[in-house]
Amino acid sequence: MNPDLDKLQPYPFQRIAQLLEGVNPADKPLISLAIGEPKHKAPDFILEALRDNMNGFSHYPLTKGSDNLRNAIAQWLTQRFKLPGGSINHEKHILPVNGTREALFAFAQAVIDRSQSKAQILMPNPFYQIYEGAALLAGAEPVYLPCTAETGFIPDFDSVSAKTWDNCQLIYLCSPGNPTGAVVPEEQIRQLLELAEKHDFVIASDECYSEIYFDEENPPVGLLEVAAKAGNTDYKRCVVFHSLSKRSNVPGLRSGFIAGDAQILNKFLLYRTYHGCAMSPPVQEASIAAWNDEAHVLANRHLYREKFDAVLGILAPLMDVQKPAASFYLWAGLDEQSGLNDETFTREIYAQQNLKVVPGSYLSRDVAGLNPGKNRLRMALVATLDECIEGAQRIESFLRLQ
Ligand SMILES: Cc1ncc(COP(=O)(O)O)c(C=O)c1O
Repeated sequence: MNPDLDKLQPYPFQRIAQLLEGVNPADKPLISLAIGEPKHKAPDFILEALRDNMNGFSHYPLTKGSDNLRNAIAQWLTQRFKLPGGSINHEKHILPVNGTREALFAFAQAVIDRSQSKAQILMPNPFYQIYEGAALLAGAEPVYLPCTAETGFIPDFDSVSAKTWDNCQLIYLCSPGNPTGAVVPEEQIRQLLELAEKHDFVIASDECYSEIYFDEENPPVGLLEVAAKAGNTDYKRCVVFHSLSKRSNVPGLRSGFIAGDAQILNKFLLYRTYHGCAMSPPVQEASIAAWNDEAHVLANRHLYREKFDAVLGILAPLMDVQKPAASFYLWAGLDEQSGLNDETFTREIYAQQNLKVVPGSYLSRDVAGLNPGKNRLRMALVATLDECIEGAQRIESFLRLQ
């Protein structure tokens, strides 16, 4: 077997299962704030489009996807990120993917040149776990960039040495971030674009939470938008990852896309042809319907807004927790005086309140003795408003007893 498989870390949910093994939860219905799976209803019109196109199962799809799908995506992307008209060509700049998870993983396999002496992939810390596995299986070394309260929960590019930038072949950005909800501001993205040009690396910007935000007048900025503003309308070295999972509440549809640098996408298409990951035709049709509609996305944001307001009303006086810039996560800090760390909190609240959260340190790695997730908790407000409120009340009762 491939020895690099042994380098893969256990997934956080496996570690949580171990942490909670043998614990008897309180006798009340489970509330899980642990899993980042959207729970709002999937829009009927998307499911109808899927049903209406079942005959598409009779054909092999193209890896490149249909013109109609890539056209719908090009229009959405151009409008959402105010890209110069015509700069996104559906033939060259877009590829459908079966959810961004597979694409984020596969991308590193296609990009990394193992013949270079020290291939490195930079990523935020804490981070979406796929980035690390992708790096390890691509034969690259993951380099973790701490995202702490001090850095505004975004990577501090100034802290990276010139040598590391030289070894860097790929950097994963995650904006809005999982688990922090932080949005990387335009200025830092511009700085990264300059570094990418100087040190010749690729930027993979995971923007799958870009449509879950609170201020309708101020949507999260994206990599392509900043590149275009900086005059890089070929989107050289830039690739963005977008998904319908969170935007349209269809995580099971497995539908997203990547867009950007035409040369990179052309090679990635070659890779994908061999990898065999074409999107099924009915899913393509359902995805066209989803990308063409904004009303359901607006309604979705409204539901999250209600939940954040209600939950923060209860939790903010009790813990270090703020409304994130975007996403559906709270990234709460624990007070040292509570006598609880992120693991003991997770175990104890499960025992006393039958509520699940994710210990922050399970989403981060220790670097130079610092784990940026230590004594933090990730809580996903994906359940119904009532359940999220009940979850917050259980945390309140739990903390009051400490
Ligand atoms: C940061 C981040 N990127 C990518 C994904 C993958 O989403 P999907 O494969 O459903 O598009 C997730 C899912 O939770 C995520 O949190």
